[in-house]
Amino acid sequence: MANIGIFFGSDTGQTRKVAKLIHQKLDGAADAPLDIRRATPEQFFAYPILLLGTPTLGNGELPGIDSGSQYDSWLEFVDTLTAADLSGKTVALFGLGDQVNYSANFVSAMRILYDIVIARGASVVGNWSREGYQFSFSAALLDDNEFVGLPLDQENQYDLTEERIDSWLEKIKMAVL
Ligand SMILES: Cc1cc2nc3c(=O)[nH]c(=O)nc-3n(C[C@H](O)[C@H](O)[C@H](O)COP(=O)(O)O)c2cc1C
Repeated sequence: MANIGIFFGSDTGQTRKVAKLIHQKLDGAADAPLDIRRATPEQFFAYPILLLGTPTLGNGELPGIDSGSQYDSWLEFVDTLTAADLSGKTVALFGLGDQVNYSANFVSAMRILYDIVIARGASVVGNWSREGYQFSFSAALLDDNEFVGLPLDQENQYDLTEERIDSWLEKIKMAVL
């Protein structure tokens, strides 16, 4: 088992694709990404380093579509997370969103995961500059300058995704490896 686990929620598959790309780029340092709908708490909590990906849906919400499985996307996994001890864990977040059509809530769902993991004692790495994005509001901004994780916009800035991931992974490697 690798030290890094990648977990994602996804509605239309973009976050899944990005999670796979991140896995490839980590070249053996991370295990294959797991859809949070199918991941068990045992699998999740086995990793000291967790890369967590989510799209923002609804009105700045985490995905949580009722597929009938026991662990049904981020919204349902939140109950498990809010009861967990994450001290000693390192978390990095990546969030998919659309800054044109959802400018009023760009990648806000990353903030929901951030607040939970911080409250449960994890340290978060991989903050990301807001430079290069245009939107009116995001709950995922830590302050005027930085997001809590890496925002990716496959609808409007598809061509920037790969270079953003490369630089973000360099930052994370410096912090944890
Ligand atoms: C119903 C709906 C609501 C959305 N709401 C938001 C939002 O509030 N903020 C945002 O940044 N993107 C929003 N998006 C855009 C998605 O986050 C974006 O398309 C993302 O790439 C989807 O990822 P997925 O394919 O992994 O589900 C929304 C998309 C849909 C279809």
